[in-house]
Amino acid sequence: MELRPTTDGDLPALYATFVDAVDTVFGPRGFDTPSPSVEGFANLQRHVLATGVGYVAEESDEVIGFGSAWSRGDDWFLACLFVRGRAQGRGVGSMLLDAVWGDARRRRTVTDAIQPVSNVLYGRRGLVPATPLLTFEGVPRLSAGAAEARADLAAIDAVAYGFDRTIDHRYWELHARRTEWGDAYSYAFPRGDIGPVAGTTSAAAARALAAELARSEGAVRVRVPGSARELVEVALRAELRLGPVPGLVLLSPGAEAPTALAPSGYMLF
Ligand SMILES: CC(C)(COP(=O)(O)OP(=O)(O)OC[C@H]1O[C@@H](n2cnc3c(N)ncnc32)[C@H](O)[C@@H]1OP(=O)(O)O)[C@@H](O)C(=O)NCCC(=O)NCCS
Repeated sequence: MELRPTTDGDLPALYATFVDAVDTVFGPRGFDTPSPSVEGFANLQRHVLATGVGYVAEESDEVIGFGSAWSRGDDWFLACLFVRGRAQGRGVGSMLLDAVWGDARRRRTVTDAIQPVSNVLYGRRGLVPATPLLTFEGVPRLSAGAAEARADLAAIDAVAYGFDRTIDHRYWELHARRTEWGDAYSYAFPRGDIGPVAGTTSAAAARALAAELARSEGAVRVRVPGSARELVEVALRAELRLGPVPGLVLLSPGAEAPTALAPSGYMLF
C-alpha cells in the first residue's frame, strides 16, 4: 500500500471510494446511503484540493482510500477520510490522517453520529464532538421579510466561523446565489441546498435563514448545528423535517461551537 498526493485524474476513483465507504456505515444500519451528484462531489473536491491538501492510498494500482483537509490561517478542517470497506481496519485511515494532519492551532471536522470508528480516531487526536449537526429538509412553510443590504463578509465570517473564508466565497459564488442581509449573508444552491448562512449574531443569522426559507420555491436542505439555537428554531418553525442521521461537529481545544452559522456542508463547512 502506498500513499501519494491526489491528482485531478483521481476524481472518479474518489467518488467510487466515497460511495463504497459511506455504504459501510449507512447500509448495515438500514439508512439510505448519501449520494451526492458526481458533478457536485467533483466540484467540491477540486476546490478542496486547490486550497488544501489531499492524499490517496493505492494498492495494486487501485485507490482504496483518500483523505483531504484545508487550512485557513491557523484553522484546519478535515474535509474527507474514506477507506473502501474491504480495506478498513488495517491502519489505512490513520496513515491518511497523518498525511493531511499538518500543523494547526485549531482543528475541526464533521462526522456521522452513527460512525464510531471515525469519532474514536479523531477523538484520540483531541477532536471531540461539541454539538450535533442537524439536517433539515422539506418545503419550508414560513413567511418572513428581511431587507437586502450590503454585508461585510469578512466581518461576518470572523464571528460566525472564527476564521477567514475569502477563497471559499469564490467557490460558493460560482455555484450558488448569495444574498446579503446587512448583518448576515446566505447562499442558495440550484438544487435546494441552503448554506452557508452566517451572521454577526445568532439573531442576524436566524433572520437571514428565515428570509432565505421564506422565498424558496421548492424543497430545501439546510444543516444547522445544535449550538446555533436560534437557527434551529427557525428550521422548526418552517416545519422542515429532521433527517434521521445527525452529524457531529468535532472540535479541538480553542475552537468554538458555532452559534451564528448554518454551514455549507460536511466537507467545506
Ligand atoms: C473511518 C475510516 C476512514 C477509518 O479508516 P480505517 O482504515 O478503517 O481506520 P484504521 O484501521 O486506521 O483505524 C481504525 C481504528 O478504530 C478502532 N475502532 C474500530 N471500531 C471501533 C469502535 N467501535 N470503538 C472504538 N474504536 C474502534 C480500531 O481499533 C482502530 O484503532 P487502532 O488502530 O488503535 O486499532 C474508515 O473506516 C471509513 O472509511 N469508514 C466509512 C466512511 C467514514 O465513516 N468516513 C469518515 C467520515 S467522517
